[in-house]
Amino acid sequence: MTWLITGGAGFIGSHVVKAMAEGGERIVVLDDLSTGRPERLPEGVPLEVGTVLDREVVDRVLREHAVTGIVHIAGKKQVAESVAEPLHYYHENVEGLRTLLEGAVGAGVTRFLFSSSAAVYGMPDVDLVTEATPCAPINPYGETKLAGEWLVTATGRTHGMATASLRYFNVAGAATPELGDDGVFNLVPMVFERLTAGERPLVFGDDYPTPDGTCIRDYIHVEDIASAHVAAARRLAADPGASLVLNIGRGEGVSVTEMVGIIQDVTGRTDVEPLVTDRRPGDPARVVASADRIAEELGWSARYGVREMVESAWAGWQLRHP
Ligand code: WQD
Repeated sequence: MTWLITGGAGFIGSHVVKAMAEGGERIVVLDDLSTGRPERLPEGVPLEVGTVLDREVVDRVLREHAVTGIVHIAGKKQVAESVAEPLHYYHENVEGLRTLLEGAVGAGVTRFLFSSSAAVYGMPDVDLVTEATPCAPINPYGETKLAGEWLVTATGRTHGMATASLRYFNVAGAATPELGDDGVFNLVPMVFERLTAGERPLVFGDDYPTPDGTCIRDYIHVEDIASAHVAAARRLAADPGASLVLNIGRGEGVSVTEMVGIIQDVTGRTDVEPLVTDRRPGDPARVVASADRIAEELGWSARYGVREMVESAWAGWQLRHP
C-alpha cells in the first residue's frame, strides 16, 4: 500500500509519519505548510505542498503516487479560533475533508483514517467516556470533527472504503525535541511559557466538582497517538470492511493541579505558587477516555505516562526557547 498523510508536516502529523515510516509503510505527505514545517519530515519521505481543498492537487497526488490509503490529519484545531471563525473552520475541516474524500473515491482509494477528537463529546457527564457516549460538541471545532466522522463513515459504507475515526484526547509530549509542539495553546506549553517568563502558572478554576476542584483530563503522549495510527492502518489494510470509531486515551484522569505540579517538578521551577483564576468558559470538569474498545479492536494501549510527556515536551520547549 501507499499511504497519503495529510498534515504530515505538523506536530501530530510528523509523529504519525515517523512511526509509519519506521513501521515500513510507503508514505507521501500533503501539507499546505500553514503551520507545518518541511524539517519535520524524515529523509526520503516525499512532500507535496498544497491543500486538500484543491481538488486538482488532490487528484494529481493520488494518481502520481498511486495512493491506496489516506491518513487525514490536516485541519484546524483551536477551539477559541473556531468560535471566532466558524465559517473558516467548516471550510477547512468539513469542505476540505469532503473534497479529499471525493478525490479518494474517484481514485479508487480503499482505506481512510481520520483524525477526530474528544471534542466531539462536549461536556460528557460520565466517569469514563466510551465511544457509545452521546456526542454533543459545544464549539464549532468539535462540530466539524463530528461532521467529519459522519462524512467518513457514510462514504466508506457507500463506496466500499475501510474507515477509522480516531478520537484523540489531550495530546502532549514529543518523540524528539525537534518534533515538539510549536504552538502554545494547551496546558503544558502554556505553563512552560509562564514559568520561563518568571510568572505564576494559571489554573482556570478550582471550584469544579472534582477531588481537588480543578479539571480532569486524559493526557496522551503524541508517540502513543502515532503508534495507534500504525495499528489502525494495519487493521484497515487487513480488513476491507472495517468501519471503526475509537478513542485514543489512557483511561487515567489527571487534574490541572497535578499536571502543574509535575510540570514544576520537571522544569525545576518549584518556588512559585500557581495562580487560580476564573473558570475558562466551556471547560468540562472531567473528560477521561475509556480505552477498552481500541485495546479490543487493535490490541493497542498507551506506553507512556504523564511524566514522560512533560519531560519530552520540556526538551522540545527548551530547543525552541534557548
Ligand atoms: C486542559 C485543562 C484548562 C491552560 C483542548 C480542546 C480539545 C483538544 C485538546 C484539539 C483545562 C486547564 C489550561 C492553563 C489551565 N483540541 N488550563 N491553565 O481544553 O482540555 O482540550 O485541547 O485537538 O478539543 O478543547 O485542553 O490543554 O487547553 O486545557 O488551568 O494555563 O487545563 O482549563 O481544564 P482542553 P487544554
